[in-house]
Amino acid sequence: MTSGSTGAEPSAAAGAITSQPVSLPLTRAAIFLVLTINSSDEHRSTILSLCADLSALVRSVGFRDIEAGLSCIMGIGSGAWDRLFGLPRPAELHPFQEIRSGRRHAVSTPGDLLFHIRARRMDLCFELAAQIMARLAGAVSTADEVHGFRYVDNRDLLGFVDGTENPAGSAEADAVFIGDEDPPFAGSSYVIVQKYLHDLSAWNQLPVEAQEKIIGRTKLSDIELDDSVKPASAHNALTTIEENGKEIKIVRDNMPFGRPGHAEFGTYFIGYSRSPRTIEQMLQNMFVGRPPGNYDRILDFSTAVTGNLFFVPTATFLDSVAPDQPASASSNAQALAADSLPAKTSSAPPKDGSLGIGSLKGEISRE
Ligand code: HEM
Repeated sequence: MTSGSTGAEPSAAAGAITSQPVSLPLTRAAIFLVLTINSSDEHRSTILSLCADLSALVRSVGFRDIEAGLSCIMGIGSGAWDRLFGLPRPAELHPFQEIRSGRRHAVSTPGDLLFHIRARRMDLCFELAAQIMARLAGAVSTADEVHGFRYVDNRDLLGFVDGTENPAGSAEADAVFIGDEDPPFAGSSYVIVQKYLHDLSAWNQLPVEAQEKIIGRTKLSDIELDDSVKPASAHNALTTIEENGKEIKIVRDNMPFGRPGHAEFGTYFIGYSRSPRTIEQMLQNMFVGRPPGNYDRILDFSTAVTGNLFFVPTATFLDSVAPDQPASASSNAQALAADSLPAKTSSAPPKDGSLGIGSLKGEISRE
């Protein structure tokens, strides 16, 4: 595979292995496709064959305007991994764990595959999404599709600049790529997505100073509030995670989306990390609070309507997938996965006509 034309990038963590293009500069347009896999073995081979061809597909569509920087990241959900690949299994792959606390709810929704498509031009994103769906016709159902756009000054629809504190350079690679902690999967990542809808009329009734204390930055100039005035409940305080005195970063590429004619205003949250624990801890802090009760006031105005966790294998891994490769290890892997789920996890019956892949929901309930 040719690095660059596919948007793929070499992994700092894994030498010759090529990672998927996780750490790219923010683009003007993005499409987020979350799909569930329909039952039948035939569908399994359809998906496996797309894995191997994805880089060529991105090259074909992207070559029409190389400057537009088309890229695509494919993520695989926990149950789908067992069905498609079996063992070995990424050490920290599990279904997205829902969180309930007071009136706040981080929902866990169906999703076996994620396609995160980015470019400077929406038409190229659209064309690639159409090509992917044509290849997968009949094998998948669409759980969610969001077309995001970059809004003025890289702001979200709450009016604040979003993405400022993303890590850069080697700190970025260190934040997103698995290293020695899971050697078979070095150079891979995890990604969590959540689609949020905002009550903008309520938000816009707040004085700007109150909004700034919720976000933790000034609205116009995007400067971080001084610790002397920043509340412990500020969004950027609750999403700052430290382990052994070191800040653990993630890479975000949130996108605004919406339909003003339907009063729909949203933020599609997407966060990449080398361990899902980091983003899960941020979500705990936001929804439950740090300490409990000191929650993120964004959530008084924003509701999460989807929630998924996916594994992002390397581009090298995807390129080497064979459409007829056996999944003999799948049943063992499934048992193993079930064993490793947290104690409060319960299995929910499929409600969406899919096999129920990705429908094992863990629940953490506090407060
Ligand atoms: C309604 C959805 C969300 C909105 C509108 C939003 C908006 C923002 C804004 C405006 C900032 C400050 C500028 C920046 O550094 O990017 C920020 C920072 C940040 N957000 Fe969010 N965010 C949302 C959800 C989330 C979620 C779900 C997470 C993680 C679970 C998260 C993690 C972070 C992190 C890590 C930072 C940087 C903190 C720092 O180091 O200063 N955000 N967000």
